[in-house]
Amino acid sequence: MRETVTFSRDGAIATVLIDNPPVNAASAAVRTGLAAALDRLDSDDSLQALIIRCAGRTFIAGADIKEFDGPQTEPQLPELIARIEASAKPVIAELHGTILGGGLELALGCHARIAAHDAQFGFPEVRLGIIPGAGGTVRTPRLAGLPLTISLAVEGKQVGSEEALAAGLIDRITDGALETATAEFARAIVAKGEPPRRTRDLPSPVADNELLDAAEQTARRRQRGQDAPLIALQAIRFGLAHDVDAALAEEHRLCRQAIASPQSSALRHLFLAERAVARTPGINPATPVRPINQVAVIGLGTMGRGIVTTLAAAGLKVIAIARSDESLTKARTAIDKAWAQSVTRGQIDEPARIDRADRVSWSTDLSAVAGADLVIESVGEVREIKEALFAALGSIAKPGAILATNTSYLDIDALAAASGRPADTCGMHFFNPADVMKLVECVRGKATAPDVVASVMALSKRLGKIAVVSGVCDGFIVNRMLAKRSREAYFLLEEGASPWAIDRVLVDFGFPMGPFALGDLAGIDLQHTVRQARADRLTPREKRADFVDQLFAAGRLGRRSGAGWYAYGEDGKAKPDPMTEALIAAHATKHAIKRVEITDEEIRDRLIFAMVNEGARLIDEGIVSRAQEIDVAMVNGIGFPRHLGGPLWWAQEMGLTGVADKIARFRDEQGDTYWPTSPTLGKGQFY
Ligand code: 3HC
Repeated sequence: MRETVTFSRDGAIATVLIDNPPVNAASAAVRTGLAAALDRLDSDDSLQALIIRCAGRTFIAGADIKEFDGPQTEPQLPELIARIEASAKPVIAELHGTILGGGLELALGCHARIAAHDAQFGFPEVRLGIIPGAGGTVRTPRLAGLPLTISLAVEGKQVGSEEALAAGLIDRITDGALETATAEFARAIVAKGEPPRRTRDLPSPVADNELLDAAEQTARRRQRGQDAPLIALQAIRFGLAHDVDAALAEEHRLCRQAIASPQSSALRHLFLAERAVARTPGINPATPVRPINQVAVIGLGTMGRGIVTTLAAAGLKVIAIARSDESLTKARTAIDKAWAQSVTRGQIDEPARIDRADRVSWSTDLSAVAGADLVIESVGEVREIKEALFAALGSIAKPGAILATNTSYLDIDALAAASGRPADTCGMHFFNPADVMKLVECVRGKATAPDVVASVMALSKRLGKIAVVSGVCDGFIVNRMLAKRSREAYFLLEEGASPWAIDRVLVDFGFPMGPFALGDLAGIDLQHTVRQARADRLTPREKRADFVDQLFAAGRLGRRSGAGWYAYGEDGKAKPDPMTEALIAAHATKHAIKRVEITDEEIRDRLIFAMVNEGARLIDEGIVSRAQEIDVAMVNGIGFPRHLGGPLWWAQEMGLTGVADKIARFRDEQGDTYWPTSPTLGKGQFY
């Protein structure tokens, strides 16, 4: 068995090698091994310096998240780092990969830092609802100043080697062999007899209150509802006003307090869930994948274009296919414009733009799919058109090519049957805008082969997305759950709530926007078309709540037309519109509905519990295998507040018995068509 930590020496230079795959997290075994290495360094007079090196793909990527909820075993990271810093002999950190969290803190406690040119540095703690707890907020300002400290520890940004070097976070970058460079560096400082340079001895920068106040305001706006960024700022402010020991102690206290918070539990749950969804029944890292180098995208509307740009940005060759020269030119012009804008904004450079453009070939001829390893169909949501397309793909695509549809709600098994290649067919459902939204629902049909699902999931990861596997049903995970939320929202309008009150309650809950602001953004015309297409599936009560159709008939198409639910003035800001209120009131009068006052709590519970109940039903029906899929999909697909952990995690935190009781009350009031019983919810535990 491989040792987690091994010690070796080359003359006067000792090296401690950490080998704790996959990311060399600073587990108890790693910390114990490092402490033993320090003992040997101290006790052997013939040793004059120590290099800390990691095997595999990265230097220590942080404390071991899986140890957070257990007892704190000695030596703890802050003490270990203090010991390294206090060492009378120089300790050098050899940095490659992603030097994150406790890994970066450990490096900052060393006396020198040599990095590979492509290393990345950061404090992702805020994304876990905690703050650096082993000196990050105390040593970073001393080495690299306040702006970089805020960017890393409060905003959770990462920087590359060049930026880290320029700011003073590291001492040297090497393009050559890292091990050789570190060894030479170690020999040179030993030869010079230089005493260790301790970060804690550097002067603290002055507290720039203007900068700190601005950072606080930005955090309140951009990381709305999250406590950790504000706690990180609190630690930084304290550190600037106190000596190093007091600052380290306070930082550690705040970190431990944050670890115990519900937000941190929720965020850590999501971190692990986002990785767990890669393993789903029948799919695991050992499942073979089909090579995907060339992808055909059919249909170049908004979604198709987003998919093309995402694929090209990830280095894949793309065949973009439109139904006419006109749509092709329109799509090409829009994509070229978007790439040019990215250059202007400094998001990519000109060579990258040229590379991306070169990767895309354009065609109006369906036979161009013949070279593709994967075909993603993204044409309009018309069943007959899609079925005919899949029948054609079945005869044109090369053997073994994966045939994926980006449909939002059509029956994938029917498309699979039409293709004559059901094992090769699956859903690949992106969210708008496809180049921004993280989620891809990988929809597994009855006959989809495991290697097809695994391939599409692997590709999604390559695109920087999170893939969640769903079975076939109306709307899959996100749209099916959202449809229940929208339905409740329309019923609440009939019963007495206003669109603005409903949106406000959801924004206060933590969503980026409420259903009505979102509806205006997506376009009332689009929702009207979807409603028409699904008319045969609507209940009489759903048919009656036809607000979208009424807005459409009134030409209120949403933000684009200057009015939808809201009115949009010159400044483009959404304003509650009395016309909408009149429309709702007239609707209630027409249908003899008595409108009453509805509390914020009732609005919240009806909307969120409608999603919770539907999520539980997705598990009941085997559409997803676990609660994790639901939480990951809803956070990454529709902006369910990340710090609440997803709808099912949140419901469990609220107490599932109470949630189930409320749902039972709604069922009594409104009938089980709208609040069907879920055995999974009845079990009283999602996790
Ligand atoms: N502790 C324990 N396990 C970890 C881990 C950590 N810090 N970081 C990653 N892992 C595990 C993942 O859970 C995953 O396990 P699995 O294969 O069983 O699902 C495996 O390592 C691989 O992770 P990824 O799939 O994320 O691999 P990538 O190559 O895509 O990304 C990474 C690698 C950039 C290092 C990414 O995993 C990451 O960002 N990790 C989190 C780093 C982090 O948050 N560090 C701070 C920890 S808190 C801390 O240090 C507190 C300190 O201040 C006291």
